[in-house]
Amino acid sequence: MTIPREVREISSGVYWVGVRDWERKFFDKLVPLPEGTTYNSYLIQGEDKTALVDTVNPGFEKDLEEKVKQVTDPESLDYLIMNHAEPDHANGLSHMASLAKDAEILATEKGKEMALSLYDLPEDRVRIVEEGDIIDLGGKTLEFIDAPWLHWPETMFTYFQEERVLFSCDFFGAHIATPKIFADEFGEGYIERAKDYFGEIMMPFRPRAKRALEKLESYEVSTIAPSHGVIYRNPEGILAAHRSWTSSEVAEKVLIPYISMWGSTAEMVHVLTESIAAAGVDAVPFEVSSQSLDTLAGELVDSAGVVFGTPTVLAGPHPQIIYIATLAKKLNPPTKYFGVVESHGWAGGAVRELSELVEGMTGELLGAVEVKGSPEDDDLERVVELGGKFVEEIK
Ligand SMILES: Cc1cc2nc3c(=O)[nH]c(=O)nc-3n(C[C@H](O)[C@H](O)[C@H](O)COP(=O)(O)O)c2cc1C
Ligand SMILES: [Fe+2]
Ligand SMILES: [Fe+2]
Repeated sequence: MTIPREVREISSGVYWVGVRDWERKFFDKLVPLPEGTTYNSYLIQGEDKTALVDTVNPGFEKDLEEKVKQVTDPESLDYLIMNHAEPDHANGLSHMASLAKDAEILATEKGKEMALSLYDLPEDRVRIVEEGDIIDLGGKTLEFIDAPWLHWPETMFTYFQEERVLFSCDFFGAHIATPKIFADEFGEGYIERAKDYFGEIMMPFRPRAKRALEKLESYEVSTIAPSHGVIYRNPEGILAAHRSWTSSEVAEKVLIPYISMWGSTAEMVHVLTESIAAAGVDAVPFEVSSQSLDTLAGELVDSAGVVFGTPTVLAGPHPQIIYIATLAKKLNPPTKYFGVVESHGWAGGAVRELSELVEGMTGELLGAVEVKGSPEDDDLERVVELGGKFVEEIK
């Protein structure tokens, strides 16, 4: 029995042959995926030749093969284009190359090196493509655009000139598994998911992402077809969002990642939140032991301020706050101001260690409130003062 699988023509001669992973709960053993994800793959059929852009995650090779079969014989594929060497978009290369025995695998120079180190591929069939190189499929021209460090060193884009479709792999991606193919079918929430994705994956490479966007300005792009999430056939919205996320623009918002074992830090965080919100600045408390890290990355994309709330545990911040602060530093957010509220039983120590941790980040430390035990009125007054400093700087 042949199981019908969804294949969709997303542009003239371009077929979505991607797969949806409803079950995946984590990416990189780090990022939670509450809505699963997709590994998009695209088949482009010209009059003479056929190309497949990106393959799929381990475990989905057969699904990809079956989907390709619904359009063409996989043996007849001429090109397997690898925009990115990571296994969620390239692991299917070995399988597809074994079916398509004459197909050339196209990648950047770095891509070739990485693909050969990761996969069992016939080296003589991997061809390096450079910036501006084109392949002619017969009435359909594919151009390769260098787009390094989005988010690995070897990444590139593939641009279908006639229909102005940009295959951007991880860039412009979002972790969503949905029966919808296009953003306009999905409805509103996609920008939030794309923002979370940007925060997790692209924000550490903000200057590179910015450069890629600037480069794209010389291309007319009617459709953006990334390899995770939905496809944008009206790409202005997602482009504008990325322009803003790669700038140093921030929202009037203070993110407050915190943890509290016995409630003292929590009390300070509540007072801080209320006092900032009362002054008309967004305050977003984020309880780190129970909330999902993907939204944390999304919030970091445009928070003007970040205040960590932590008790002192074994002479330093709570280990979960160390983890969050370390991660935040690596994600390279455009945060302008930092702060700390802390409670300790006898000697403290969390503020010193956190100050060292945030050193080297873009923002400045505006202040810290250290309290012995549970906060008294005068301690809470200091918390309100700290909130006032944030409001003054941010508004
Ligand atoms: C496991 C553990 C380790 C702690 N280590 C320290 C410490 O090294 N120095 C200190 O001053 N207080 C230490 N404390 C005391 C807490 O910092 C103190 O109870 C604080 O008020 C707790 O804040 P919270 O109510 O927000 O959890 C420790 C408490 C616990 C439970
Ligand atoms: Fe990737
Ligand atoms: Fe990916």
